[in-house]
Amino acid sequence: MVSYKELGLVNTREMFKKAVAGGYAIPAFNFNNMEQLQAIIMAAAETKSPVILQVSKGARNYANQTLLRYMAEGAVAYAKELGWEHPQIVLHLDHGDSFEICKSCVDFGFSSVMIDASSLPYEENIALTKKVVEYAHQFDVTVEAELGVLAGVEDEVSSAESHYTKPEEVIDFATRTGCDSLAISIGTSHGAYKFTPEQCTRDPKTGRLVPPPLAFDVLHEIEKKLPGFPIVLHGSSSVPQEYVDMCNQYGGNLPNAIGIPEEQLREASKSAVCKINIDSDSRLAMTAAIRKHLAENPSHFDPRQYLKPAREEMKKMYIHKIVNVLGSDGKAE
Ligand code: G3H
Ligand code: 13P
Ligand code: ZN
Repeated sequence: MVSYKELGLVNTREMFKKAVAGGYAIPAFNFNNMEQLQAIIMAAAETKSPVILQVSKGARNYANQTLLRYMAEGAVAYAKELGWEHPQIVLHLDHGDSFEICKSCVDFGFSSVMIDASSLPYEENIALTKKVVEYAHQFDVTVEAELGVLAGVEDEVSSAESHYTKPEEVIDFATRTGCDSLAISIGTSHGAYKFTPEQCTRDPKTGRLVPPPLAFDVLHEIEKKLPGFPIVLHGSSSVPQEYVDMCNQYGGNLPNAIGIPEEQLREASKSAVCKINIDSDSRLAMTAAIRKHLAENPSHFDPRQYLKPAREEMKKMYIHKIVNVLGSDGKAE
């Protein structure tokens, strides 16, 4: 058993309280490799932003959970080396799907876990979430739960709407589970193809797809039911079109990739939404930069030659999100 406190990590409790009161959101960035982690820590240290490092099932399969945890421990030391005296870094399990995986992360030094039982019937979601909360809270590890189902790209608008979080359930769910934060469904979804072209309109000037707006009415109803309770948005990449264009220009094929407009994420950050999950934008920044570099430098074969500009591009993107979208800069001086 290792406590995250020994590793210099923090849980989300104080962080979320301040973010809700201050009208900003904490960035939750997924990482799978060293370059992503370096870029996240450089961006957070430079902007003095609290940050949540997320480890998904895919990341655990790709990079190994043990290695990722030691990397997060190293990240605290690295942040200090960069001049960030009191780093506020959370190590969070993203989309944990069983009690066992949540327990193994709590026991191994994670400071926060998500139990995603949102696909289970309501009562089963409550029972599993409660079990994880009861275990995690013994060690002061915070727990994120999910209610409502994030739309898949295949869904029709009508069925996507029917999966929105039901505001009438949130008080009962939060009270009975004791969870510390709640991920809700208001129209975001995972990946780089969040809406089909049929669900969008087109900007007459640019010809670009314009996605339907998030269901802010549902968010506001939830806020009224649970005043000050930390709300989480998954699937919040904006899928920057400059990266999509760059990928396509240098041999990629990402037709109609589209995300959540940043103005809407900025608006959400000012509400009870205090954690915003971003993964796909990092993948796009990295891939765009690598494609460009290799196309322009066909003789290069040292990974450091193309991973360095990729890391720079990710760092630039993370700083932009922190400063211009979430407003978390300077909140961890
Ligand atoms: O929730 C989805 C995240 O983007 C992680 O995805 O399981 O492919 O790493 P992944
Ligand atoms: P994106 O695919 O929009 O980056 O969402 C990531 C996420 O929600 C991780 O849990
Ligand atoms: Zn997610």
